[in-house]
Amino acid sequence: MRVSVIGCGYLGAVHAAAMADLGHEVIAVDVDAEKVAALSAGNPPFFEPGLPEILTSSLASGRLRFTTDISEVAGSELHFIAVGTPQSDDSGAADIRFVDAAIDALLPNLGPTDVVVGKSTVPVGTAQRLAERLLSAGSSATLAWNPEFLREGFAVKDTLSPDRLVFGVAEGAGHQHALAALREVYATAISAGTPVVETDLATAELVKTAANAFLATKISFINAMSEIAEATGANVTELADAIGYDTRIGRRFLNAGVGFGGGCLPKDIRAFSARAEELGLGSSVAFLGEVDAINLRQRERVIARVIADAGGDAVDLKVAVLGLAFKPQSDDVRDSPALDVARGLAVAGAQVTAYDPQAMGPAQRRFPDLNVAENVQQALLDADIAVLVTEWPEFVQLDPRNVGDLMAHKRIVDARNVLDPAQWRAAGFHYSSLGRP
Ligand code: UGA
Repeated sequence: MRVSVIGCGYLGAVHAAAMADLGHEVIAVDVDAEKVAALSAGNPPFFEPGLPEILTSSLASGRLRFTTDISEVAGSELHFIAVGTPQSDDSGAADIRFVDAAIDALLPNLGPTDVVVGKSTVPVGTAQRLAERLLSAGSSATLAWNPEFLREGFAVKDTLSPDRLVFGVAEGAGHQHALAALREVYATAISAGTPVVETDLATAELVKTAANAFLATKISFINAMSEIAEATGANVTELADAIGYDTRIGRRFLNAGVGFGGGCLPKDIRAFSARAEELGLGSSVAFLGEVDAINLRQRERVIARVIADAGGDAVDLKVAVLGLAFKPQSDDVRDSPALDVARGLAVAGAQVTAYDPQAMGPAQRRFPDLNVAENVQQALLDADIAVLVTEWPEFVQLDPRNVGDLMAHKRIVDARNVLDPAQWRAAGFHYSSLGRP
């Protein structure tokens, strides 16, 4: 099929390359000429495993092109909207002006049977408003909502083989045509057995918001348990293992630690709360405020723990911060707990040296005073204490004997609960984690 993708950020760049990889002819548009030039040369402006490979092969096949000229989308049958919906500057609500701008830019280029497919995460009710906007502008194109569930670090795999597809289309003219077009564009995944949920626009929008809210709640639930476990001498990891064996609960997303971050979960729960308030239903999701508060408290807890474990005085304390990305296999530092811990320790007076295998550039752009090391050994050299905040494999696999030889004092705070306490203690470390004795 001939498809266009509007917005070449994380979502759009991966989606465009994946659609071309599946055999579709893709034109991908972004207003940022630098981004378009980098992607056209096969260089994604962010780290995502597997993306450079499918980008290069799709560009070479001639099926994928990037442009800043929106008029080049004319002739595409499907137009995916993949622009960002960041948190507003002055509230928790989502800023959807890029979605509106994408629709405005698309309108003059739409054919009568085109399908506009929203993928961005938007407050429920947005799609209906956009459908009315198309109609009132005289377009007979159909609007569909097809939320994206990809995880950073697994974005290519999640796009090529998603665990479900959600097609939201309003009843009326264009309904059957839009569903058929969506089934065709995702034919490879559907024939491999991916379940499809066909629904209305509002449900499709809400599925995405509800999924991220549920995941965030699961993480904050286990982090709340880690506070209780810590006060009572219980072990939160064993607790998670034990409740996770109940398939109704499940073990995934029950890893206690410094909490969730990134460009999605934090802003999505805030946007959901803001939208519920607008609907007069703030109390229905009031618990999300608590989910957010528990999550942010974890960062403070880690900062306090580092200082306490090192004797209580942060001033001139040499701290090695291991990790800056919000999670491994990513260079994303948006709302990163790791970066907040590094910043918080520096503000408290510590001499912080951080290392991350991928995220040092993005971290330094957000926090120019951040002192970074060239490698993990350099970060650890002469440190009074180390704190592991992003569970990159190279940190999880560190040999405590080698680490101990580098540091001034053998102290480590494992803020992701991923190291073996017995092994670190046997090497002479003062080891502590969150919610484990
Ligand atoms: C999340 C969702 O998982 C995707 O399904 C969704 O498509 C995406 O947001 C989005 O809305 O675009 P992502 O932000 O890539 O994906 O990251 P996750 O893998 O969900 O991790 C989020 C955060 O939770 C990370 O900071 C991670 O360290 C933390 N986490 C995760 C925990 O603290 N504990 C866990 O047990 C699991």
